[in-house]
Amino acid sequence: MYLSYLLVALSFYSAVTSTCPRRCSCDPAQSVQCYRATEIPREIPFTTRRLYISHSKIKQLQFTDFRRMSVLEELVLSCSGTESIENNTFKALSTLKSLELCKNQLKQIPTFLPSGLEILKLADNSINALHASDFAGLMKLRVLDLRNNLIATLPPSAFSSLYSLQSLILDGNNMKSVSAPLRLPRLMYLSMADNKLTSFPTNFFASFQSLHFLSLSGNFLTKVPLDLPKSLLSLKLEKNQLKIVRLQDVKHLENLSEFLLSENELTSIDGAQLLSNLTTLELSKNQLHTVPLRLPSRLQKLDCSNNLIQRVTAQDFQGLQDLRHLFLDNNAVSTFEAGALQQCAQLSNLALEQNLLSSIPLRLPDTLARLDLKGNDIEDVGEQELKDLKQLQVLNLRNNKISLLDRKVLEYLPRLRHLYLDGNPWNCTCDLFRTRRALVAKGTDVRGGQCAAPAQSRGESWMSSKKILQQCEDNLSSTERGKEDRKKMKPNEASSVGMNTDDDYYDYELD
Ligand SMILES: *[C@@H]1O[C@H](CO)[C@@H](O)[C@H](O)[C@H]1NC(C)=O
Ligand SMILES: *[C@@H]1O[C@H](CO)[C@@H](O)[C@H](O)[C@H]1NC(C)=O
Ligand SMILES: *[C@@H]1O[C@H](CO)[C@@H](O)[C@H](O)[C@H]1NC(C)=O
Ligand SMILES: *[C@@H]1O[C@H](CO)[C@@H](O)[C@H](O)[C@H]1NC(C)=O
Ligand SMILES: *[C@@H]1O[C@H](CO)[C@@H](O)[C@H](O)[C@H]1NC(C)=O
Repeated sequence: MYLSYLLVALSFYSAVTSTCPRRCSCDPAQSVQCYRATEIPREIPFTTRRLYISHSKIKQLQFTDFRRMSVLEELVLSCSGTESIENNTFKALSTLKSLELCKNQLKQIPTFLPSGLEILKLADNSINALHASDFAGLMKLRVLDLRNNLIATLPPSAFSSLYSLQSLILDGNNMKSVSAPLRLPRLMYLSMADNKLTSFPTNFFASFQSLHFLSLSGNFLTKVPLDLPKSLLSLKLEKNQLKIVRLQDVKHLENLSEFLLSENELTSIDGAQLLSNLTTLELSKNQLHTVPLRLPSRLQKLDCSNNLIQRVTAQDFQGLQDLRHLFLDNNAVSTFEAGALQQCAQLSNLALEQNLLSSIPLRLPDTLARLDLKGNDIEDVGEQELKDLKQLQVLNLRNNKISLLDRKVLEYLPRLRHLYLDGNPWNCTCDLFRTRRALVAKGTDVRGGQCAAPAQSRGESWMSSKKILQQCEDNLSSTERGKEDRKKMKPNEASSVGMNTDDDYYDYELD
């Protein structure tokens, strides 16, 4: 009984495989994948619904290639050096919904595309112009990806059929300007990053009533375009030449949640509170001298890293109850008002590395999970600064001027998992050795660094050095020695703790 089923199954399987062409694999779900083909294989079953060909050499596609694949729904032909496509090659494929011809050498949009097409991806080709008839009749097209081609202009007539278009990607082309408005009422996602755009004509965005996401990053814009659609949720203007952002001009974007302005030339920004739904504001790599004034109260992430900020005051962060991630690293902060972040009752991640702080800021929020103070001028680590940080998991104090660390400080940090202490001028007294033992006992992953003093210990790695162990053994009380003996039973522990090699890479979202 079972045997006969098996035989039937086997013969069915062999029937399928017998029609599968060389260098292809065919699965029962009517998908065929081929590699290293030099033409579209003739023996592909006519029942194929999905055909994937890549890493092949197929210079030209011909009308006859797909003619008999009457149920084809998805065709992917990538990385195959395809330069040209005969007229009508796809025209008869009435069931085709998705066509991807990325990473080839096409110079134009394939002609006579089937009208049922919903997805067309032509990224990474050499298409240098769009023509009025290119997308004629593609009333169902939802996604059009033309990134990384050589397109210089957008003729509005080319887009006039695309009533259903939701996503248009034109990143990495050669556009210097755009002319008349495109009429794409359903468009939700528009990306024109990495072109050469300097400005937009008035009303260019007027017809995009559904636009949620707009990226104009990597252009030469000096102004935020006017008339941006009210529906926007995300606006990316990174890597442009903006000197001023008049929040007045964008205050109609009432649902904007993400505003990315990194790598511009902004010297100040004021009035972001007008964007009341903003949760992410990124201003890294500008020329800000102060934290932006009047920030919106729903902000969750503020990135002001790589600017010229010198002071952090309580006024800057008033009412930011939702702030979780604050990046102020790579500035010139020397003054940090005690309690400046007290109102940020959800702050979990604070980046202050590469500043000019001479001490750890006082009264940081007790919600912090990660605190980065690498590369400052901190000399002392006192209980005062750390005693409330019950949630702290990662503390980076690398490259400061710390020579002592009292082991009592560590008792205040019950959740500490990673501690970076290297690059400091450690004074390797037996007190520091007690701290070492406390850290080992706690199971914290530590990068200790090297002793700078006393002379006989200089260059020793204080978390793992045996020499210091010997020197200090006599100085330990008998109870302390008992602990050390227990540790000795697990020989690798002390050294492995000191030898963590995964540097200071860590996620800023901690549990
Ligand atoms: C392909 O179609 C275009 C546009 O309809 C036409 O101008 C061209 O001559 C056709 N090419 C061939 C080889 O038939
Ligand atoms: C803003 O979002 C709300 C809630 O999702 C929505 O009802 C409203 O239409 C949006 N406003 C605009 C201008 O799109
Ligand atoms: C945006 O803010 C307004 C007013 O503060 C509010 O009515 C609206 O629902 C918000 N939209 C979203 C998507 O949260
Ligand atoms: C190291 O600590 C000892 C003992 O507290 C002290 O006498 C010495 O001056 C310190 N050395 C340096 C370089 O700070
Ligand atoms: C150990 O303690 C003695 C005195 O209690 C002190 O003289 C000596 O310097 C200490 N050794 C080290 C390495 O600190």
